[in-house]
Amino acid sequence: MPKERPLWRGAAFRLCLLSAALFLCLQLGIRRSWCPEEKPRGAAAVRAPAPSRGAEQRPGAAAAAAAGGGRRRVTYVRSGRRGSAAPACCAPQPPGSRRKTVRWHIELQPWASPTPSLNYEASRFLKYISTSQISCEHMNLNSLKGYSKTTKKPWSVCLDERFSLIHRIRSKQCRLYSLGLGNDDRQFELGMAMSGCEVHRFDPSARAAHVQEGPRLWYHRLSIDWRDPNPAIAARRLHGTTKKLGTVLNEFGHQKIDVLKADVESAEWKILENLILEDVVEQIGQLVFEVHIHWPGFEVSGNDSTVVRYWYSLLRELELKDFRLFHTYKDLSKPQMFLKKEAFNASSCYTLSWVNTRWK
Ligand SMILES: *[C@@H]1O[C@H](CO)[C@@H](O)[C@H](O)[C@H]1NC(C)=O
Ligand SMILES: *[C@@H]1O[C@H](CO)[C@@H](O)[C@H](O)[C@H]1NC(C)=O
Repeated sequence: MPKERPLWRGAAFRLCLLSAALFLCLQLGIRRSWCPEEKPRGAAAVRAPAPSRGAEQRPGAAAAAAAGGGRRRVTYVRSGRRGSAAPACCAPQPPGSRRKTVRWHIELQPWASPTPSLNYEASRFLKYISTSQISCEHMNLNSLKGYSKTTKKPWSVCLDERFSLIHRIRSKQCRLYSLGLGNDDRQFELGMAMSGCEVHRFDPSARAAHVQEGPRLWYHRLSIDWRDPNPAIAARRLHGTTKKLGTVLNEFGHQKIDVLKADVESAEWKILENLILEDVVEQIGQLVFEVHIHWPGFEVSGNDSTVVRYWYSLLRELELKDFRLFHTYKDLSKPQMFLKKEAFNASSCYTLSWVNTRWK
């Protein structure tokens, strides 16, 4: 009966207290380089026991690890929500949140063939993006109240009852983030706003920092990037800030995005990588991305086979996170190019839609 608490529970409680104390201490340590009962400041030069690869690049994490003074090994997890380093602790976590670990690289899939070859990489990749992984019956926004016009591009979302989007639309809790570059048509955004979603459009050409264009439609003069800008540069720039999606979510106080639409002219690969590495993708219900394959994309390097393997690996990461491709569209109106060549009967541009089957 509850009279005797098992030993381990006592120990766990003490450990929790200890961690909480350490956490507080570290917080102070970071801010003021002052920490009771820790090694003096010089200890900051001591390399922490086992910093994760690349930790040195993150001043916060490195400083925190150093402040720990090698005495105790602290695991740093990065919560996608806060976007800052915080020690793993037994503090109660809000329901649904998971521990998030920092990753610096995506897992590359094995080559498609024993010796790397563009033919094999391309056919594996093209087959992958042309094959739905889950069926979706209702993709037509016309079925929604207040939505009548047809969009030029198939920005398909899945409105089947088994996924939450349709329910969130009905209860007016739905939120769409749309990343774009100003010149594309906005039918999809207007339609979603009319049907009850809160729509945030991120567009560097917006006429002011934040503009409300309709009852549920906002424009933000921001472009979503795969890294936050160097603060020195950001301060000098008057307009056109770039930010990571995770940063924007934190700043807006949004925990979930029902639909993320992206038409970002080849920045999608690095943005997707960032969303995966920081686990931001888990906060998203459906993804509708235009992907561009006529060139490797911003900051994607390597020979052609390497590039295609990287694209493929990114999409496999999504699958690993239980995203399923339910719609794929090959844009025949765009140049039919694949890595600067007319090859493989590929288009330079595909629109792909995924549903996060874990998402509630
Ligand atoms: C491309 O680069 C990779 C890694 O650097 C190499 O292993 C591969 O042989 C190269 N592929 C081709 C087709 O040149
Ligand atoms: C090339 O792609 C088009 C459009 O997807 C398709 O109709 C056609 O059959 C393909 N041609 C070949 C040779 O695979």
